[in-house]
Amino acid sequence: MTKISASESPTSDVIVIGLAKIEGKGGVTTAVRPVSSNFKLDENLLIKTLAELGATGAKNEVLKIPGVNQKLLVVTGLGVHSDNYSHETLRAAAGAAARSLAGIKKATFSLPHKDSIGFAAIAEGALLGSYSFDKFRGKTKNDQKAPLTAIEIHTRFGREKSILRRAEILAKNTHLVRDLINTPPSHLTPISFCEEIRSLAKQFSLKVEITSDSQLRKLGYGGIIGVGQGSANPPRLLHISYQPKSAKKSMAFIGKGITFDTGGLALKPAQGMEAMKSDMSGAAAVCAAILAIAELKLPIRIDAWAPLAENMVSDNATRPSDVIKIYGGKTVEVLNPDAEGRLILADVLVRAAEVGHADKKRKFEGLVDVATLTGAQVVALGTRTSAVMTNDDAFSKKFLACADSTGELFWPMPLPEDLRASLDSPVADIANIGERMGGMLVAGLFLRDFVAPETPWLHLDIAGPAYNEKHPHGYTPVGGTGVALRTLVALAELTARR
Ligand code: BES
Ligand code: MN
Ligand code: ZN
Repeated sequence: MTKISASESPTSDVIVIGLAKIEGKGGVTTAVRPVSSNFKLDENLLIKTLAELGATGAKNEVLKIPGVNQKLLVVTGLGVHSDNYSHETLRAAAGAAARSLAGIKKATFSLPHKDSIGFAAIAEGALLGSYSFDKFRGKTKNDQKAPLTAIEIHTRFGREKSILRRAEILAKNTHLVRDLINTPPSHLTPISFCEEIRSLAKQFSLKVEITSDSQLRKLGYGGIIGVGQGSANPPRLLHISYQPKSAKKSMAFIGKGITFDTGGLALKPAQGMEAMKSDMSGAAAVCAAILAIAELKLPIRIDAWAPLAENMVSDNATRPSDVIKIYGGKTVEVLNPDAEGRLILADVLVRAAEVGHADKKRKFEGLVDVATLTGAQVVALGTRTSAVMTNDDAFSKKFLACADSTGELFWPMPLPEDLRASLDSPVADIANIGERMGGMLVAGLFLRDFVAPETPWLHLDIAGPAYNEKHPHGYTPVGGTGVALRTLVALAELTARR
């Protein structure tokens, strides 16, 4: 893990500063302006060099200029000049610079900011950008550059020690989410996922409970069993509970944990199937979130639940038209075994609400499920914006305010009543697919059937944003992104406080 510190006077030979665009009439860039956290340099000479390099100050533009004040100067684009850059602009600019500094020992980040929120954002961005995944490389391992070894933030807000500690905890756990997503299904099964989290949970006072496939069958978890029965790697239910004495409230996080989604007997096309190793992103996010919350010692009870299964093709696999019984007794006609996420989540929505309401000492604030649930989410919102669906608008507003503070893009989506009828089944209580148009909302409506109306509930569909198949940008690498983790932690912080 990359080291981080704060200083009022830069000490490294590599200095990262910002570069802003100055726009004239009609939004034409007329000039660029170097901006920093008060780092002294010869601006006129630098502006001349930047012009020769064709620098524009656009976001994600990173240029390296050697020999400025006997240092290596790294300029990272901030976009249009502002007197107060948004925290997300700073996070992304720091992240893009950090990515470009792989292989380097130490760099000082001198980016413009006016308060400790800006300082925190720069620290987070720099750490989040310092990531690499080379665990499965053999002979080519040495061709890979290690992430930046040490980061120094040039700031006058460095006395607030908790800021760097929080940034480190968020980055460490985001890296954990990314590692789990990037780990191939040959090496990440429901069982190995549980063992990995169990060993990490030992550092904190967390209760870890792993329910085996035979126990799940006995207890009536027909969703997890039905989805997992086609695989040689048996399913599991992982439950982690963090119960600090001081907690007056509680909340449950549920993450979809399909370690690989072939589509089952509704087999997906080979093209692009490899991305389905990311179908456990929700499970990784909720497990890493509870580890972060425990390390931050937040005074709130959190239960993290990860139903884990591998959706495979075999003579044991669930057939289209099979009927399964979800925990609690509702029956589902499985018309499409590729709509498997909602089946494993249904079991756990019922169970997590039961456990949440059973704690009479604490107010149960609600359920949040996180899932790479539908291709329709990607069609509707693209690859960078996640969807939020809910039965409680106040809960959703609170979550969206948290997302605003973390820079993660979430957008509210409706659960239109008229679409519910399309899930009616001629043989069971509900079918697992309905109307194709608005498929993300239909999936949300399916899940809503397993939540009591009086239980506040959020459904986060992160299908697109969880896994970056294109180019790296800002602090986001290619592969697992770690999305949702930081907003879940922010939600726990806000709920614990109020
Ligand atoms: N895991 C997929 C959804 C997905 C698609 C995630 C693309 C990330 C990127 C999910 O299990 C699935 O297969 N959903 C189906 C549902 C359909 C059969 C109703 C889909 O979206 O096509
Ligand atoms: Mn599927
Ligand atoms: Zn899936």
